[in-house]
Amino acid sequence: MKIELGAATPEGLKENYPGQFEVGRWLDNIIPFPMQIFIVTTRKKNGLNNAQLNSWGMTAGPGSKPRFLFQDMEYTDTYKLINVTGEFVINLFPKEIRDNAFKTALHYEENIDEVLESGLTPIEGLKTNACRIKECVAHYECKLEWTKPLGNGHVLVCGEIVSASVDEGLLTGDLKEILETADIMFYLKSPIDCKDGWKVSDKYFYGAMSDEIFE
Ligand SMILES: Cc1cc2nc3c(=O)[nH]c(=O)nc-3n(C[C@H](O)[C@H](O)[C@H](O)COP(=O)(O)O)c2cc1C
Repeated sequence: MKIELGAATPEGLKENYPGQFEVGRWLDNIIPFPMQIFIVTTRKKNGLNNAQLNSWGMTAGPGSKPRFLFQDMEYTDTYKLINVTGEFVINLFPKEIRDNAFKTALHYEENIDEVLESGLTPIEGLKTNACRIKECVAHYECKLEWTKPLGNGHVLVCGEIVSASVDEGLLTGDLKEILETADIMFYLKSPIDCKDGWKVSDKYFYGAMSDEIFE
């Protein structure tokens, strides 16, 4: 049996914090859509590194001109810096550095290097002035192509991928070995239960690619 959900947030679905279902979409908490988590690095005006944890992104476009699309909030330093510098790097990270990576979700002052402050190591970009992060396993270096507002402070950012680099482990072995080596994390959100009224879990779920893979 199919249950129609509609698109509007159901009345009676209580948020765990104000704005939970405006910053994120309640449908994402019902329809599993694992999104890889990554760190977006940009260069601050003072030359220090800015870093942002993000989980809404994907590659797009033809292979001859690949792009990386991700969603940002207009108020973030990342979005503002991308508009100034026209450059950003997407760094995909393994579960092993989760605690460090999650520090990039915090807000830092202008005079802080957010990569170093998170206990991570910046290395130069190959084709951009934004840094790559050494402990991450894969990097897309991008030049801003366009941005599109999606409403209420949400904005879509599209960058042309001008260079990509990966750890050697991503290039050798069968798929299982590659995924175990990369062990990239993904975000599974908080499930909603509607047995007895709409309720969203206050737990946040994540996964990692090294866990069981089915054929
Ligand atoms: C799991 C997780 C995923 C996140 N995904 C996003 C995202 O997709 N877009 C966004 O704007 N912020 C996202 N955030 C919040 C940002 O990391 C946070 O606002 C950060 O302080 C912004 O940094 P900045 O101001 O240096 O850009 C996420 C946070 C967490 C914990």
